[in-house]
Amino acid sequence: MMKKTIVAISVLFSGFAFGEECATTIDSTDMMQFNKSEMTVPASCDSYTVTLKHTGTLPKEVMGHNWVLSKTADAQAIAGDGVGAGLANNYVKAGDERVIAMTDVIGGGEETAVTFDVKALAAGEDYTFFCSFPGHIGVMKGTLTVK
Ligand code: CU
Repeated sequence: MMKKTIVAISVLFSGFAFGEECATTIDSTDMMQFNKSEMTVPASCDSYTVTLKHTGTLPKEVMGHNWVLSKTADAQAIAGDGVGAGLANNYVKAGDERVIAMTDVIGGGEETAVTFDVKALAAGEDYTFFCSFPGHIGVMKGTLTVK
């Protein structure tokens, strides 16, 4: 009887751990910062969910943030092209095929999420996540790797 209980508990915990592995949360602030500069996506995940929180109070028109994923080589150009797209398009050019995944731009106190297909990513490829709000990519960026 005792043994059975232990098995049940360990199954519960491994299920929880697996769920956590295929998702993460990143915070952003009024100080124009992400709280992470690296993300590792397990290659065993079918999909991966990134939840973006804005822990500040400033509105999105002033200090908006989003989370955009692309190959590192494309990041700067996506952000540059996104400036003219405006807030209504989340500062990403409509139909930009270089974008692998992106959230909407959010303001203080808001939260959003995006789920993307991990199988579309390549292990060993250099990916960058960044905020495409004009001027933010300089500090709001990090690396994402599949392992
Ligand atoms: Cu930003």
